[in-house]
Amino acid sequence: MSQQQDIVLSGIRSTGSLHLGNYFGAMRNFVRLQETHTCYFFIADYHSLTTHPAPEDLHNNVRRILAEYIASGIDPEKCTLYVQSDVPETCDLYLLLNMIAYVGELERTTTFKDKIRKQPGNINAGLLTYPVLMASDILIHRAHKVPVGKDQEQHLELARVYARRFNNTYNCEIFPEPEAFNFGANLVKVPGLDGTGKMGKSEGNGIYLTDAPEVIRKKVMKAVTDTGPTEPNQELAEPIQNLFTILDLVSKPETAAFFRDQYARCSIRYGDLKKQLAEDLIAYLAPIREKFEQIINDKEYLGKVAAAGREKARASAAKTIAEVRRAIGINRL
Ligand code: ADP
Ligand code: TRP
Repeated sequence: MSQQQDIVLSGIRSTGSLHLGNYFGAMRNFVRLQETHTCYFFIADYHSLTTHPAPEDLHNNVRRILAEYIASGIDPEKCTLYVQSDVPETCDLYLLLNMIAYVGELERTTTFKDKIRKQPGNINAGLLTYPVLMASDILIHRAHKVPVGKDQEQHLELARVYARRFNNTYNCEIFPEPEAFNFGANLVKVPGLDGTGKMGKSEGNGIYLTDAPEVIRKKVMKAVTDTGPTEPNQELAEPIQNLFTILDLVSKPETAAFFRDQYARCSIRYGDLKKQLAEDLIAYLAPIREKFEQIINDKEYLGKVAAAGREKARASAAKTIAEVRRAIGINRL
C-alpha cells in the first residue's frame, strides 16, 4: 500500500480544554495529514470515564473538544470527525480483543502503574484495559499511522501486539500494524510551565488553546525559572530548557536564537524572555480562539458535524467487524 493510501487515526480524551501539548503533540499533525490521507479523528469520551466525570461535565467537554478540533483547523469535510461512543462497533472489537490481551502485559503498562500511584482509590478494570480500548479505536478502521505525543508510545506498541496476535490466532490478515507517527521526527513532548514533566490536562500546568491573552501573560510570567547562568555556555537547567522548547514551537527562529545567545553570554533576563514568549503565544493562538468562540454555541452546526462523522465512521467500522466475526467463527446460524 502506498504512503498516501495509509489510513490515519487519532483521538483525544474529553477530559477538559485542549492545551499546547495536545496541539503540538497531536493536533498540528492531524491538520497536515487530513490534506493527504484518509483520516479518522475522534473524541475519546469512553476513555475519559475512568475518572467518573459528572454527566453534565462529560457532555460539555465532548462539545468543547469537537469545537476545539474544528477551531484548530480540522475540517470535517476532509476527514471523518466523530465521537467514540457513537460507534458501538468499537466496543464489539474491544470485547473480542480482551480475549487475546493478557492481564500481565496490561499490568506492566507504565500508564497503568502511574494511575495506581495517582488514584489508589479507583483502580477500575477500565483502567487496566484502557490500552485494549485504544487498540480497538485504531484497529476498527485498520489504521496504519497514529499521530500522537510521546506519552502514547507504549499504547501503540500494545496495539501492534494485538493486531499481530489476532492475525496469527485466526490465521488472517485483517489488521495492519499501526505506528505512532510524527512525519519521521521524534514524538513530541511539550513540557509544563512548572519546571518539570509534561504539560497535561490534569497536571494544572498548561496553556490552553482558548486562554485569554491576560491569562496567558499571567501563566507565562509565573513559569518556574532559576537564578540564571553563572558562567558562559552553561547547560540549560530543565525549567529554562522547557521555556525554550515552547519558544521554539511558537516564536520566530531568530527570537529563540537571540535568547539562547543571551543565555550563553550570561546576560539573559528571564522577564524579557517570558514577555516575548507570552506575546508570541497570544499571536499564535488568536485565530484558534476566535474560531472557537464563533462555533462553541452553535449546537446545530456541531450536532450536524457529529452526525455526519458517525455515519462515515460506522460504515468503515461495520466492514471491519464483519470480517473479524467471520475470522473468529461468529457466523449467523
Ligand atoms: P492529556 O494528556 O492532556 O490528558 P490526552 O490524553 O487526551 O490529553 O492526549 C491527547 C493527545 O495529546 C495524545 O496524542 C497525547 O500524546 C498528546 N499530548 C498530551 N499532552 C502532551 C504533551 N505534553 N506533549 C505532547 N503531546 C501531548
Ligand atoms: N489514549 C489517548 C490519550 O490519552 C487517547 C486515545 C484514545 C487515542 N484512543 C486513541 C489516541 C486511539 C490515538 C488513537 O492521549
